[in-house]
Amino acid sequence: MSNCIAIDGPAASGKSTIAKLLAKKLNIAYINTGNLYRAVALAAIRAGRDLARLDREFLETLKLEYTPNESGDYVLKLNGKELEAALRTPEVATGASLVATESEVRDYLLGVQRNFAGKNLIVMEGRDIGTVVFPDAEYKFFVTATPEERARRRLAQNGETADGATLSEVARELAARDKQDSERPIAPLKPAADAVLIDTTNLNIEAVIEKIIGQIKRSN
Ligand code: CDP
Repeated sequence: MSNCIAIDGPAASGKSTIAKLLAKKLNIAYINTGNLYRAVALAAIRAGRDLARLDREFLETLKLEYTPNESGDYVLKLNGKELEAALRTPEVATGASLVATESEVRDYLLGVQRNFAGKNLIVMEGRDIGTVVFPDAEYKFFVTATPEERARRRLAQNGETADGATLSEVARELAARDKQDSERPIAPLKPAADAVLIDTTNLNIEAVIEKIIGQIKRSN
């Protein structure tokens, strides 16, 4: 069994906030795998590459590494530089979903993610952690919320939507990404058969964390 709490779910479902806080409460490391896909998309945009056709040679020029910060969370660096704000634009989010359909990209990033397997329990967040990256993860959660609520949450995150974007525009962008993520042939977004489903539409973060910790205690 992999020492991993897998948290999967669609865009803006609250995964990152939940995964980060859960890791803090349990005093273990947190890894955001969406940032890997976002970093590949960002590097490809900067290099003027066709995002739909990335090859291994290009991927191997990218130095992607996670380094733990003072709170123990793993922060992704590309060629030695932190990327946070640059990763969170709508253009990079859409690009990440596109590069994530390619087998070359997924195979390459699978290795990076599996390198985290070890003796310490970690929280890993993404789309396919419980289904593909660590199908034998010790704990699996699939976090959702209604499309309307997710659009509201995304709009409230400064910088992650275009200036002046409306709720319906954001909802459309999320719906397009959900469709691409769920319909791709490789590692589509879907709950693992043994994942615990949590609908966060009417739950605050503390309530979600309580549910997850309760579930972890029950299965021990
Ligand atoms: O933060 P948000 O939920 O909007 O997105 P993200 O978790 O940063 O992921 C960005 C994109 O990367 C997603 O739309 C997926 O296409 C892709 N992704 C993936 O395919 N597999 C993962 N484990 C994580 C992200």
